[in-house]
Amino acid sequence: MAAPGPGPDPGPLYCPLIFLLSYTCVSALLPLSGAAVYVLNDEGGLGAEFDGIGGLSGGGATSRLLVNYPEPYRSQILDYLFKPNFGASLHILKVEIGGDAQTTDGTEPSHMRYEDDENYFRGYEWWMMKEAKKRNPNIKLIGLPWAFPGWIGHGANWPYDYPDITSYYVASWIRGAKLYHNLDIDYVGIWNERKYDQKYILLLRYTMDKMGLEQVKIIASDNLWEPISWSVLHHPELYDAIDIIGAHYPGTFSSSNAKKTGKKLWSSEDYSTVNDDVGGGCWARILNQNYVNGNMTSTIAWNLVASYYKELPFGRDGLMTADEPWSGHYEVQSPIWITAHTTQFTQPGWHYLKTVGHLHKGGSYVALTDGKGNITIIIETMSHDHSICIRPPLLPFEVFRQNTTFKLQGSFNQIKTLQIWHSKFDFFKNSSKFFTQLPEIKLDNGSFSLHLEVDEIYTITTIAGNRGSFPEPPASRSFPKEYEDDFNVENPPFSEAPNFADQTGVFEYFINFRDPGDHVFTLRQVVTQRPITWGSDADQTISIIGDYKWKNLTITCDVLIETANTGGVFIAGRVNKGGEAVRHAEGLYYWVFADGKYKVTSDLPGKIVLASGQSGTRAGKWHTLTLSIQGNLAHGLLNGYPLWKNVNVLQPRNGWAAIGTRTFELAQFDNFHIQAS
Ligand SMILES: *[C@@H]1O[C@H](CO)[C@@H](O)[C@H](O)[C@H]1NC(C)=O
Ligand SMILES: *[C@@H]1O[C@H](CO)[C@@H](O)[C@H](O)[C@H]1NC(C)=O
Ligand SMILES: *[C@@H]1O[C@H](CO)[C@@H](O)[C@H](O)[C@H]1NC(C)=O
Ligand SMILES: *[C@@H]1O[C@H](CO)[C@@H](O)[C@H](O)[C@H]1NC(C)=O
Ligand SMILES: *[C@@H]1O[C@H](CO)[C@@H](O)[C@H](O)[C@H]1NC(C)=O
Ligand SMILES: *[C@@H]1O[C@H](CO)[C@@H](O)[C@H](O)[C@H]1NC(C)=O
Repeated sequence: MAAPGPGPDPGPLYCPLIFLLSYTCVSALLPLSGAAVYVLNDEGGLGAEFDGIGGLSGGGATSRLLVNYPEPYRSQILDYLFKPNFGASLHILKVEIGGDAQTTDGTEPSHMRYEDDENYFRGYEWWMMKEAKKRNPNIKLIGLPWAFPGWIGHGANWPYDYPDITSYYVASWIRGAKLYHNLDIDYVGIWNERKYDQKYILLLRYTMDKMGLEQVKIIASDNLWEPISWSVLHHPELYDAIDIIGAHYPGTFSSSNAKKTGKKLWSSEDYSTVNDDVGGGCWARILNQNYVNGNMTSTIAWNLVASYYKELPFGRDGLMTADEPWSGHYEVQSPIWITAHTTQFTQPGWHYLKTVGHLHKGGSYVALTDGKGNITIIIETMSHDHSICIRPPLLPFEVFRQNTTFKLQGSFNQIKTLQIWHSKFDFFKNSSKFFTQLPEIKLDNGSFSLHLEVDEIYTITTIAGNRGSFPEPPASRSFPKEYEDDFNVENPPFSEAPNFADQTGVFEYFINFRDPGDHVFTLRQVVTQRPITWGSDADQTISIIGDYKWKNLTITCDVLIETANTGGVFIAGRVNKGGEAVRHAEGLYYWVFADGKYKVTSDLPGKIVLASGQSGTRAGKWHTLTLSIQGNLAHGLLNGYPLWKNVNVLQPRNGWAAIGTRTFELAQFDNFHIQAS
């Protein structure tokens, strides 16, 4: 990098290694040769209004393990995500409106599980939104449903047959956020990555208006650009009801219909890339190019923080990783600092300049202003191979090192100095550097020059930034080999017990007032009807826990079947699948039933039976199950006495522990204990 003319402190006369950034280069006398010139100007009007950069908690259960982190680590993680001028400093938090169903990495609870049920204290998204607001009162909030409780569709797997019910359900969530948590929801979506229904959208607008939620804007349809853009163009009522057209993984381009609508265009879900250096590269490229190529004024990362067991689908696809509440270990990865390059120096309500675009030799630049004289320029030169997202760029492109000169004109012409923040990906040398501040740049008659290497990001700005930090968190450790939970918590901070990750059904703390004895405080499976699913929930319910690498273990748990005759529960080890693959989870499942029988199966559906017989178990009575798997053999106890033994376990060789029920039915669990080796 070099400034073109003599400054007050000229420094040495040459830039010895142009590809190394140094103070020497900043104040060098010689201009860069062959520099392409880019004019940044606000004369003749501005470009589109910027709406912010966001992260998505949910879709589903992606923040599950975060809530159980010990302090101070949990607050540190939240600071890295939300605290202004610290880390990612996000402008937007989008959350799932839980629907009791599997939505990628688990289930999130619904606020209206039955027709006459309302509860705004389930799950952790309320907490997450409050923590975000605590740090940044201006953060924008979005709610979007993935799945719905079964009653919404009267049993059909479809939420639009009774649009009045569905719109009341969604609007109630927004009203509940305000009533119970003083949270103002700014935007709401329709149905994640599924069909929209025009009548429903109009009714949602009508219902929200009637409930005093006129200020809540509608995003549609969180899927592709079409057919929603076409519909908006052809239906004036829909045009009036929808504020923002949000598409997922748009690959930085938008459709011509979308642009024709004149609506705000958002990449309302994007990124979904492992948060190593490549993930950061993807994020850097799309944050600029979603606007440059596709006129999108907001980009939201799936997901906010990878706080789910790594072996679930899309492991580590968060802006950072926090999946070890038992150790307190977390990792702040490149996407956090790439986010900071934009978020710390802009705000929703700023405007892009019209002068944005591609660099001559690959890469892109955007510039934004607050309209009061501040300017932020973000430049990226991400090469193709190092910025692949889950959906790679539509067109191959090449990026080369290059010299550039930026000329600030219009109201920026008088700016004398600018702050510089820099990141450089160096995958091969393992020497990437993120978000470092360089000495300020001195402008000469509104111009500065910059040598750009490949895979760099620069922010050049009038706004002050800050690279927040905390002492190193504790080292990574695996899940404790011995683990127990008696669920004896009178006022639990969350409705779900630590470390259990529900994959079908919802398991919540329960106070069993009628129990005279040892089982007053329990964990209860509470979903009794198959939800309107988004993924492929199992026909059984299941919650996983522990270390996926576990081979040998003994699980003991007290169980209470609540459904007479047909009910059943299981405990399991070596469970090898979750998320949307949960229907096909293998493992070793020890079931007992209300009809007095037991079985041992190697699959969750319970079809591959390894042993079975009489157990004498029944509903309404507590039983203690023990499952022991050592090497290729397993045995089971009932109430401390051997029930079955010498069952051969060949596959799978390892997996999580789990509890669950035969179908969507009430059942309770207590005194859960694992000893793994
Ligand atoms: C950039 O400018 C420097 C200094 O004049 C020159 O040595 C170098 O070759 C130029 N680089 C490119 C890629 O044009
Ligand atoms: C989209 O962006 C391009 C390039 O910045 C611009 O020329 C065009 O006017 C924009 N279109 C809309 C509808 O904003
Ligand atoms: C830029 O932003 C800062 C902080 O937001 C503000 O105090 C200042 O007035 C703005 N304008 C200029 C020209 O710096
Ligand atoms: C990369 O460098 C970090 C420290 O900067 C080190 O912990 C890590 O092991 C290195 N990775 C490789 C693949 O060399
Ligand atoms: C400063 O820049 C303006 C336009 O950017 C130009 O018209 C003017 O001649 C320049 N002045 C000097 C002293 O270079
Ligand atoms: C598991 O148990 C088997 C049989 O007792 C033993 O051979 C094997 O070493 C154990 N594996 C581990 C990882 O402890």
